[in-house]
Amino acid sequence: MVIIHAAPELGEFLQNLRLGGRRIGFVPTMGALHDGHASLIRCAKRETDVVVLSIFVNPTQFNETADFTNYPKTTDADLNLARSEKVDVVFSPQVADVYGDEMRTEPTDYGSLTAAFEGESRPGHFDGVVSVVRRLFNIVRPDVAFFGEKDLQQLAVIRHLAKLEFPELEIFGCSLIRDDDGLALSSRNTRIPRDQRSHALELHKALLEVAEASKSSGSLQAAIDRNLTRLQRNEHIELEYFAAVDSKNFAVLQSEETSNQSFAIVAAVVAGVRLIDNCRL
Ligand code: PAF
Repeated sequence: MVIIHAAPELGEFLQNLRLGGRRIGFVPTMGALHDGHASLIRCAKRETDVVVLSIFVNPTQFNETADFTNYPKTTDADLNLARSEKVDVVFSPQVADVYGDEMRTEPTDYGSLTAAFEGESRPGHFDGVVSVVRRLFNIVRPDVAFFGEKDLQQLAVIRHLAKLEFPELEIFGCSLIRDDDGLALSSRNTRIPRDQRSHALELHKALLEVAEASKSSGSLQAAIDRNLTRLQRNEHIELEYFAAVDSKNFAVLQSEETSNQSFAIVAAVVAGVRLIDNCRL
């Protein structure tokens, strides 16, 4: 496994592989790697010839300084995981390698896709995500890039970015991975105290109940309303949103009818940790 810090060095390294006809797979991450990231890497290993994993905690996508400061940093463990998953190249840049002299973001307006839900709860978040992913795509120039369905809205935003600006690039969405108890894997989970975990699991339970209602003859809207009220009343949960949406544009579903793009989505703060989760309807 090669570890590269500077963009020009990475460009040169990958260009030689590209000229040899190898397909480049890219897994962008902010480190604090877990089994969810390992599954992205395995996906990339299956689909492409050379896997580049970036580890860069992007300061511009945190709308709260405390979230950035508290974001877990586990460099040695990350490199061990990357090595054991047979990553070919780790790209681990500094802020200046990605942003140059000025850490600037470009405003991104993809309509409801960037304005609703995560866009509303975290002002500026998608400006930061799109700005950094655009820069990383330009540095790595991958054939295929891999993102988790756990960040479902981010995946839709990045698909849109690729459609507009990187038409040759394939965006591959990989399934959300859960812990044995059902909690969606996230780098932030390590900050949830053990005795608060059951409250975090209420989010998944609510999603499952809505998914169940959408598959059976139960009313989807009634299930949304019931679970919304239950989550709002739980004093351990600071609910930000809970809704059924079309994952293509993140518009709220207007009828009981669902398609394979319909998802129930949730975001909440539990024990000071912001969690998001989703479930296909
Ligand atoms: O999903 C993440 O870890 C980040 O948002 C990403 C895509 C690496 C951009 O910083």
